[in-house]
Amino acid sequence: MGKDKLRRFAAVKEMPHFFEPTIPNEFHLKGKWHQEVFKNDNPIVLELGCGKGEYSVGLAQHFPNKNFIGVDIKGNRMYIGATQVLELGLTNVAFCRTKIDFINNSFAENEIDEIWLTFSDPQPKKPKKRLTSPIFIERYKKLLKPGGIIHIKTDSDILFEYTEEQIKEHNYECLELTWDLYGTLPENLDQTTRDIFHIKTHYEKLFTAKGATIKYAKFKIH
Ligand SMILES: C[S@@+](CC[C@H](N)C(=O)[O-])C[C@H]1O[C@@H](n2cnc3c(N)ncnc32)[C@H](O)[C@@H]1O
Repeated sequence: MGKDKLRRFAAVKEMPHFFEPTIPNEFHLKGKWHQEVFKNDNPIVLELGCGKGEYSVGLAQHFPNKNFIGVDIKGNRMYIGATQVLELGLTNVAFCRTKIDFINNSFAENEIDEIWLTFSDPQPKKPKKRLTSPIFIERYKKLLKPGGIIHIKTDSDILFEYTEEQIKEHNYECLELTWDLYGTLPENLDQTTRDIFHIKTHYEKLFTAKGATIKYAKFKIH
């Protein structure tokens, strides 16, 4: 790790809204995020593979009555979002450094209301590692409330095609699906929804600069 990455990694560990479960143990906040971290009963939304946490921070500003947790294995990336949270004075965002593979060690049954998958790695050669593979969906089923929603925003044809197939094969309830998000936003869309879709993550900016079309789907797995 470079010097700056190490500095950011050390700094984020000191922040009060940054948590680092130790695997393979169950995390002490499992089932207690509402009471012990957010001190309210508001819905909790996870951003999985959050990187710098643009969606967690962006959504938190639009929805002060929801709580957001960015999850990633890279602490030095989460440092960026975690620092913005402090600068903006947000109290409804936390970050959790863990592998998503062990997400059930950190969150209890029915603890989560929504999941965002933002520009997840497409894993071209390892479909089982895709964040919409049945292995991961089973993990999400355990922590999502019945009727909980999954959003996926991606540049990747491979990941999106695979996700569309999974939705059909497993009869997930598809609420929205578009291969060209920005080309198909209805003109009469309300401003908040428009703003949400226009939150641009680091990877979205990189991919759109290369001409990628952004895809989006929203579905329920129960
Ligand atoms: C392509 S980046 C996208 C980051 C961010 N969402 C964005 O759009 O800029 C994928 C992120 O997912 C994280 N990631 C991938 N697989 C993961 C896993 N199994 N557990 C935890 N984090 C993972 C990586 O560390 C990386 O930050």
